[in-house]
Amino acid sequence: MATQTTEDRVSERLELTPEEAALLQEGTLANTAIQAQPRDFYRAMRHGDPIHFDEKLGSWLVTRHEDISAVQSDPITFSVKHGYSEQQARGMREEFEAYLREHGGGYFPDAIMSDPPYHTRIRKLMENAFTAHRVKELEPRITAVVHDLIADVVAKGNGKCDAVKDIAIPLTIRVIVEQLGLDQGMEDKISRWSVAVTAQIGAMQTRETMLENAQQIADLQNYLIAKMKEKEANPTEDMISDLVHAEVTNADGTKEKLTFEEAVSLCRATLIAGNDTTATAIGNLFYVLTTKPGIAELLESVVDDERQLNRFIEEHLRAEPPVRALSRMTTKDVVVNGTKIPAGAHMLLVYGSGNDDETVFPEPRSFDITRPNLGRHVAFGGGPHRCIGLALARMEVKVAAREIVKQMMNMKLAIAESEITYTPTVATRTIESLPITFEAR
Ligand code: HEM
Repeated sequence: MATQTTEDRVSERLELTPEEAALLQEGTLANTAIQAQPRDFYRAMRHGDPIHFDEKLGSWLVTRHEDISAVQSDPITFSVKHGYSEQQARGMREEFEAYLREHGGGYFPDAIMSDPPYHTRIRKLMENAFTAHRVKELEPRITAVVHDLIADVVAKGNGKCDAVKDIAIPLTIRVIVEQLGLDQGMEDKISRWSVAVTAQIGAMQTRETMLENAQQIADLQNYLIAKMKEKEANPTEDMISDLVHAEVTNADGTKEKLTFEEAVSLCRATLIAGNDTTATAIGNLFYVLTTKPGIAELLESVVDDERQLNRFIEEHLRAEPPVRALSRMTTKDVVVNGTKIPAGAHMLLVYGSGNDDETVFPEPRSFDITRPNLGRHVAFGGGPHRCIGLALARMEVKVAAREIVKQMMNMKLAIAESEITYTPTVATRTIESLPITFEAR
């Protein structure tokens, strides 16, 4: 029998314009043009069919803020474990697994992409590494890393750079590499590894790209395993050393060491989860600074006011959310906002649409740092799987914003806005490259 998850709540379906109706009928999130400019499609779904079955993806798209919040608060009915493993290398999972067993030291399921009660134990352990307090202590060091990187680009760029490839991507990689205790100078490799891991949840792989990605992931795992062995023998002050020696606390208070498989998966998750996402947020920052009138001036006016700057960053994450949609799978028949979903169905929580929901954020396309409910955005998800790295992510974006204003001015897009390309994936909305011009300040 179907279970009602959100009592009898059924939102009003609005009448669609003929264009919206056609978009709803023909659109799919698998279409790369819609992935690049998704907002009309999101709106059509929110208004006409808020829990929309995307046939091409074989997924139910949850698009309203209220429904996203309800689903993410019920991790038992809507399983992350099954959602992610089903999404991983969709349709080619066995081959993917076999490749990693043969070439990548093993197949290590994501320990954090799991369900309670197991997830709760792993999550506690990870949270210790990312507390707001611990992150605050990192601010001076991260500021130095970001300062140096931007100073280098300004000195060498001759008024030109690729804001994504020269700044956003290497910046986030340098920060996390330092935290984990990995080797610097591997930005290109780590960037390729990140793309390969995130492609597993992007729903856009062919067999050929899946095998290329598996090769990258094998390379990544072999590197991490060697590092972990090194730090097991000689611990240093960093997160890999912490993870290889970490113990989880069981419900009865007893402690247990992480298994090797768990430790590898958590090192991999920490290296990758924050890279693409935070780099995307910083790339998006350059995008709005160079294309949206008044935003660069607004940032300059708040940059020395910590509180206002924080509000600016939150509104930026709401308006341009890096993560678009992540997976769940139903563990029983269920009704969400009037729509019946069978057990074992794949779902995507469309965070990008939740942040655009006009019933929660009036005039969602206007950038307004005075919104009273700014903090309700779902760029970091919510419920028990809410982003673990959010304090670090916020701080990196904030530090980047400060350093950009201090060192660069009169930034302009060096290509037409219509030429900007986005990574083909349902999971994030990521600008691939952003050539800009600027003057040194
Ligand atoms: C602006 C940057 C970031 C964004 C937009 C972002 C977004 C998200 C979102 C939406 C989720 C929820 C996943 C779900 O609902 O299934 C999540 C989870 C997670 N994030 Fe982030 N993230 C960012 C940065 C980071 C950083 C810097 C790290 C760590 C270095 C990190 C580590 C994680 C981990 C480990 C999880 C899984 C948590 C769990 O399942 O319990 N993220 N993130």
